[in-house]
Amino acid sequence: MNKAVRKAVIAGNWKMNKTRPEAKELIEAIKPLVKDAGCEVICCVPFTNLETALEATKGSNVKVGAENCHFEKSGAFTGEISAEMLTEMGVEYVVLGHSERRQYFGETDETVNKRVRAALAAGLKPIVCVGEMLKDRENGITAELVAMQTKIALKDVTAEEMKNVIIAYEPVWAIGTGKTATAEQANEVCALIRSTLASLYGAEVAEATTIQYGGSMNAKNAEELLAQPDVDGGLIGGASLKAPDFATIVAAATNG
Ligand code: PGA
Repeated sequence: MNKAVRKAVIAGNWKMNKTRPEAKELIEAIKPLVKDAGCEVICCVPFTNLETALEATKGSNVKVGAENCHFEKSGAFTGEISAEMLTEMGVEYVVLGHSERRQYFGETDETVNKRVRAALAAGLKPIVCVGEMLKDRENGITAELVAMQTKIALKDVTAEEMKNVIIAYEPVWAIGTGKTATAEQANEVCALIRSTLASLYGAEVAEATTIQYGGSMNAKNAEELLAQPDVDGGLIGGASLKAPDFATIVAAATNG
């Protein structure tokens, strides 16, 4: 197996952006531009936009994801949303362990793992984010750190469940900074994640798993990043809020 048989996936991560009318407008703008995409196209939107996004994407090839979910099924967790609440709505994907959740909301490798397991149990497809901070890269521990994050996030996840898991490599220093990892750096760590998956699940699962790059991917640099042998797609923040830019990235994944 190789890149050609893995599913290329371009996912927008809208973060805390867009009201409902704005969300509808953006999806309506994206839909015609990506209708012939040769890759999977996902918009991960704020909870308040999920219903709008699901309605607007009906009958199109654009899938909808949430940006987080809690690991408990229900209960006294004020402000949280369960995986079942998302699947009941028809949401298919969920971003988990994003570095902004880790940095600002106390997310740890252990809670990411709990969320991944809860999401899978509920039938959601998690996009699991891993990635080093600038100081980790400077200390030369990127490989160890990303392997550790990957292993803990996937603890007790079965090989069968891995069919529904996407990994996103997002170096924290590249997110929202305009400092993209070089194509070589992105590929190197995506390949390392793949070898970590091979050590956990064997080569076949590792080769079949979609591994995205994220961090200032944009309409200009997407083609080079997506052409790398171990980069199977992208998790796009800023550029996913502009329909033409997002569509250009989707086209790059389609051709790559
Ligand atoms: P960015 O964000 O593309 O704006 O750097 C990526 C992400 O946080 O997923």
